[in-house]
Amino acid sequence: MSIATPASGGGLERAIESLEIALPPAGHGLAQDEEWAIVHHRGVWRQVRLHDYPEVFRVQGLYEKWVYDVLGCQSPQKIAALLQGALREQGVDPGSLRVLDLGAGNGCVAEALREIGIGEFVGVDLHPEAAMAAERDRPGLYQDYVVGDLTDLPASEESKLTENTFHAMASVAALGFGDIPPQVFARAYNETEDGGWIAFTIKRDFLLARDDSGFFGLIRRMIDEGVLELTSRQTYVHRRSTDGDPLEYVAVIGRKLGAIPEPWLIG
Ligand SMILES: C[S@@+](CC[C@H](N)C(=O)[O-])C[C@H]1O[C@@H](n2cnc3c(N)ncnc32)[C@H](O)[C@@H]1O
Repeated sequence: MSIATPASGGGLERAIESLEIALPPAGHGLAQDEEWAIVHHRGVWRQVRLHDYPEVFRVQGLYEKWVYDVLGCQSPQKIAALLQGALREQGVDPGSLRVLDLGAGNGCVAEALREIGIGEFVGVDLHPEAAMAAERDRPGLYQDYVVGDLTDLPASEESKLTENTFHAMASVAALGFGDIPPQVFARAYNETEDGGWIAFTIKRDFLLARDDSGFFGLIRRMIDEGVLELTSRQTYVHRRSTDGDPLEYVAVIGRKLGAIPEPWLIG
């Protein structure tokens, strides 16, 4: 992954280089939210679970080294390329857009979107460690960063949403798997202005059949009932699993036509 962060003074790149990661032997068949590795940091080897985000983001460079260098993640570049194509087709200046980046982590997606010329970002993440890592690794990339559960925010965080207009929303590699539930996705979606751009990636299985994530029914209904206009949809390999198998995701680009009604999210 190219790290275009002159403001970080090369600290991030040095941190990535200094880390060592050992994956468990192939054949463990670990579910995506169970994947782990042994990480060498500051002279100590220890086991870390990939979905233990606070732990991962506390170690500078660990997310990039593990997810991008070792597992070959393509998702930020994929969503950026698809969104760039859609904006070009509609003659939209990316510099005019403020994006709500849901499940923002330490800013890899906003960085890819900045590379296609997008102007402003507001991050959202459940974990304060993600917000701290974003400022440490990509200082100044986010105009603002909301920390917490979007369905239950303290007033100080709530105002960062309500005082901004969002012309687009992005959510990459963060839906389902006990990460972002449909209710949180819906809150971010509904904060985006009507006509705004929607860009997200989701595991292919979550869009193929009814499953526990709740996204299959929600996304289909949004399209069927004219809440989301689909612009493009592409199946691609998000990254390799720890066992080396390709993990198929779908990247979706669309326009918000209306809000997701609250009753759709109950039950
Ligand atoms: C796999 S990481 C993806 C980070 C970033 N989008 C990227 O692609 O580099 C998933 C992110 O979603 C965040 N997350 C998990 N549950 C969340 C929730 N309910 N609300 C907001 N963020 C959440 C995690 O803290 C983590 O930063």
